[in-house]
This record gives sequence, structure tokens and C-alpha cells, in this order.
Amino acid sequence: MDLLHIQWPKFTVATVLCLTCPLLIMASDQPTLTKEQIKQFLLTAKIVKAEQSKKGINNTLRLTLSDGTVTHDASFQPVDIHKPQMQLASGTEMNFVDSYKYNIAAYQLAEMLGLDDIVPVYVERKWKGDAGSLSWWLPVKMDEAERHRQKLTAPDADAWNHQMYKVRVLDQLVYDNDPNLTNVLIGENWKIWRIDFTRAFRLSKDLRNPGDLVQCDRQLLEKLKALDGNELTEKTKHYLTKDEVKGVMARRDKIVARFQQLIAEKGEGEVLY
Ligand SMILES: Nc1ncnc2c1ncn2[C@@H]1O[C@H](COP(=O)(O)OP(=O)(O)O)[C@@H](O)[C@H]1O
Ligand SMILES: [Mg+2]
Repeated sequence: MDLLHIQWPKFTVATVLCLTCPLLIMASDQPTLTKEQIKQFLLTAKIVKAEQSKKGINNTLRLTLSDGTVTHDASFQPVDIHKPQMQLASGTEMNFVDSYKYNIAAYQLAEMLGLDDIVPVYVERKWKGDAGSLSWWLPVKMDEAERHRQKLTAPDADAWNHQMYKVRVLDQLVYDNDPNLTNVLIGENWKIWRIDFTRAFRLSKDLRNPGDLVQCDRQLLEKLKALDGNELTEKTKHYLTKDEVKGVMARRDKIVARFQQLIAEKGEGEVLY
């Protein structure tokens, strides 16, 4: 299974894996990097190729990085637009921001909530003089737009829904004003990822779509309750303003309250999984 598309020298990898964990070889013929190794790779590996991305509206670039051992692609997003007001199809948005910084903030937040399995690692990196976010390229089969077009459904509805409910919680928490089916990506075995948060982190203290919150992963709810505003401020310090952090924390309170209300009405078994 070509999970991460990493090209490691076969001898070294096989040797190390045989010595450390023979089962890993049986599970996958490709090694996986830890999140920390991925961050370091994205921050330091040499950029050896660049091409325009095919989807999306901003000027994202698909870069190829190599550190001599690992070669892997990454998505570079340099957008950083701030306008007092912006005319959008949905109406006028005041204090409009479209920024790569929110991608990095979203990953930091996802890590704090144990949701870093549904958001690719995003770091800040410069390319040709522009700062931007760089995300680990995922082994994507299709996106949600394509799945809808093809009228496909995942064979394991529970497994699919359990992932999607996590995406919904994250969406409500980050308040994305540009929710978009091309930002939900699907991999092998119907694995789901959520990408592209450049228009998230609005200041609203209300949820955008509280009705989307139907069920919640038990651990996620505990992590939400434990989310600490000071720690979030620290971890997102170059990427979120004080008011943006306040927005997240206010919405966190509302998400927790909503699930507590649903539990009171329907019982825990209907709401938590
Ligand atoms: N890390 C990634 N792995 C795989 N595909 C990606 C990744 N990041 C972006 N893409 C692809 O590129 C498209 C555009 O990137 P995105 O970050 O959504 O920017 P925008 O929509 O603002 O142009 C996405 O819809 C997706 O198809
Ligand atoms: Mg997008």
C-alpha cells in the first residue's frame, strides 16, 4: 500500500524495520514518518520541483521536496489577504481575511484535540520570497465533490460517519466561511482529511451550523472540554490574534454545551461513540 508515497532506499529501510518491527513490513511496504519528522521534513527539505495545483481558487503550488533520503510532495499556499470588507456570493463580509496562517493554526489546534489524523501537517515556509503554508501531500483518491458527482458511498457507513462527525466538530470550531467540498479529501479505505482553512477563524462567538453537530467521538469531547485558551494562544501565536482565539474558545463552549444538551435529551449512547 503506497500510503505516503515515500521513496526510501530499500535496503536501509528494510534493515531498520526488520530489526525494530517486523510486523510493520507486513502491514505496509512503505515506512511512515512521525508527525515531528514530517514537520522537520517540510521545514528543511530542499524544494526540487514546483507546479501549479489543478484545483482550488488560490495560487496554490504543488512542490516536490527532497532531503536526499525522502522525496515527497507538499502544497504551498501563500495567500494573505486582509480587506475591511469583501463582496462575496454569500453577501458582504466585514474584516475579510484569507490567509495561509489559518492553515497552520488549524493544524496546531487539530494536534491539541487529537484530530491531527484528519488534518495534514501544515508548517510555515518561504518559497521564492513569499511566506506561505506548506502541507504534506496526501495520498488522495478523490474529494467530496467527486464522490457526490459519482454518487459513491463508503461501504462501512459507521466508519465513514465517525470520521465525518469529527470533521463537523472541527468545522464548527474553526468557523470556516468557505466550506467547500474540494476541501474534504478521501484516501484509501475511505479515509477522510480536511484541508484548506484560509477563510476560517472568523471572530463569531456563535456556531455557523450547530445543527451539523449530531454525534461526537468520546475522546474528542473530553479534549474539547480540556482545551486551554492560554495553550492555544501560545501554540498559534504568530497565526491567530487574541480575538480569533477568543472566538475559538467561545465556540468550544457552545459545541460542548450542544453535545451535553443532546446527551440529556437522547442519552449518551445516541450521541457519543
Ligand atoms: N496536502 C494536500 N494533499 C493533497 N492534495 C492537496 C493538499 N493540499 C491541497 N490539495 C489539493 O489542491 C487543491 C487546492 O488546495 P487548497 O489548499 O484547497 O487551496 P485553494 O482552494 O485555496 O486553492 C485542493 O482542493 C486539493 O485538491
Ligand atoms: Mg480549497
